[in-house]
Amino acid sequence: MQESTTAGELIAQLKPRKNQLDEHGLLRYGKMLIDGEWVGAASGETFESVYPGTGEVIANVASGGKEDVDRAVAAARRAFEEGEYKKMNGADRGKLLWKIADLMEANIEELAELETIDNGKPLVESLRVDLPQSIACFRYYAGWAGKTTGETIEPHARVNAFAYTLREPIGVCGQIIPWNFPIQMATWKIAPAIACGNTVVIKPAEQTPLSILRLGELMLEAGMPKGVVNIVTGLGETAGAALVDHPGVDKIAFTGSVEVGKLIMRNAAGTLKKVTLELGGKSPNIVFADSNLELAAKVALAGIFFNQGQMCTAGSRILIEASARDQFMEVLAGRAAKMTVGDPLDPKTRMGSLVSEEQMNRVLGYIDKGKEEGARLVAGGNRVGGSGYFVTPTVFDGVNNDMAIAREEIFGPVASVITFNDADEALRIANDSAYGLASAVWTNDLKKALTFARGIKAGTVWINTYNMTDNALPFGGYKDSGFGRELGAAALETYTQTKTVYVDLN
Ligand code: NAI
Ligand code: MG
Repeated sequence: MQESTTAGELIAQLKPRKNQLDEHGLLRYGKMLIDGEWVGAASGETFESVYPGTGEVIANVASGGKEDVDRAVAAARRAFEEGEYKKMNGADRGKLLWKIADLMEANIEELAELETIDNGKPLVESLRVDLPQSIACFRYYAGWAGKTTGETIEPHARVNAFAYTLREPIGVCGQIIPWNFPIQMATWKIAPAIACGNTVVIKPAEQTPLSILRLGELMLEAGMPKGVVNIVTGLGETAGAALVDHPGVDKIAFTGSVEVGKLIMRNAAGTLKKVTLELGGKSPNIVFADSNLELAAKVALAGIFFNQGQMCTAGSRILIEASARDQFMEVLAGRAAKMTVGDPLDPKTRMGSLVSEEQMNRVLGYIDKGKEEGARLVAGGNRVGGSGYFVTPTVFDGVNNDMAIAREEIFGPVASVITFNDADEALRIANDSAYGLASAVWTNDLKKALTFARGIKAGTVWINTYNMTDNALPFGGYKDSGFGRELGAAALETYTQTKTVYVDLN
């Protein structure tokens, strides 16, 4: 493969842009946002942010700890209880969200660049997918601000009262997000929280803090009062854990691994926080022989290889009906073998780098495991490039649903293909998983498709497509994939609480 742009070249490219670099010649994202101010960690500690395309350090980021979280939570509490934000009505908050979206749009190229050099995903994807969807998300929730209202309810028996409910914000929301879609995950959490009148302390993943810090600047520029959104950069075990333990935080919204999700739920019990969890998946993508096989294969490739496979919804288990297997595999494996990985910053690149060395090694470990378990490697399976964390698009055929590569979330460009004989068997295999985030079925038989949609235990079902999402539609998991829904009106439920008011009419 062609070698990636180096960090030095990258920084040289960015240099003309004012205020991009710090005194060490690295990107200037060493401070976090607390109470409307940019501050270093109380401990003075920092951690390195690495460009995955080359493995070079591009920024030293503040490593927030308990003291910083305390300050951020206090600021969020003040903003929630008193001051400018409290006086803002729904229309004001809607305007603020819309203004943030406008400023993101005006700075879309810079944000997309930051997203790519932080995460390793192709620049084209940051620019055409991640950023536009994030901007649209702020606008979607701008429309909801002030519209989360209660109801009047007729008492059912004995009571003679006029009764109604108020839908009120929850308070201070702690939000812990992952590295796979940094700005999108930040948006999915911040926008509904503000629409409902909450305040936020958000902790980005340690691998990808940059675009969110830039978003913080834009939020201030948009006129967001101080303390409404605080960004504490830091490690999970320190900053993340402190947020979960903090008695002043009313709710934790988390996206990440099942392991940390379980830990968060356990730790949040101490202070009885509300918790919503969006954890991973091992989503089945089921292809029946009567479907458009060529299209199904092409979309299945995008379903597993988009974002280098680092997607909670990745279609990582591809189930193909036995009678169509050869025809389908020819397209799937053939095209996978032709896909190339390359410099994330090259506008022609469609597949970039994994996020970190750790994640790359994890993925390569699963590829070895797949071979050991007896699955047949039909495409990819190796690291490429001397520096950077690039793994070729990998396809295993002849996978059995008991194998680790069919049961565990790999979170990388590895597809496991399983063959089935009939619809009952397909549904049984699909549901034989600890996870239940997403699923897809390809068939031209309406009855088969709708029966599958009822039978599958997953939060999303796609019929003859994959990875469709829309800001208006709820997103979340069944089983170990978590609970609570993000996006749509569903997210508003998780950022409000209901108060009941009785007026005696006797
Ligand atoms: P992770 O679950 O450790 O990290 C996600 C977020 O949680 C980060 O912000 C991290 O700092 C924070 N965190 C970690 N430990 C914490 C703790 N004790 N208390 C509070 N916050 C904590 O995920 P990681 O280690 O980056 O990736 C490991 C695997 O997790 C991946 O290979 C993938 O299978 C899965 N994953 C799933 C994601 C999804 O979208 N559902 C996103 C990221 C990872
Ligand atoms: Mg972890």
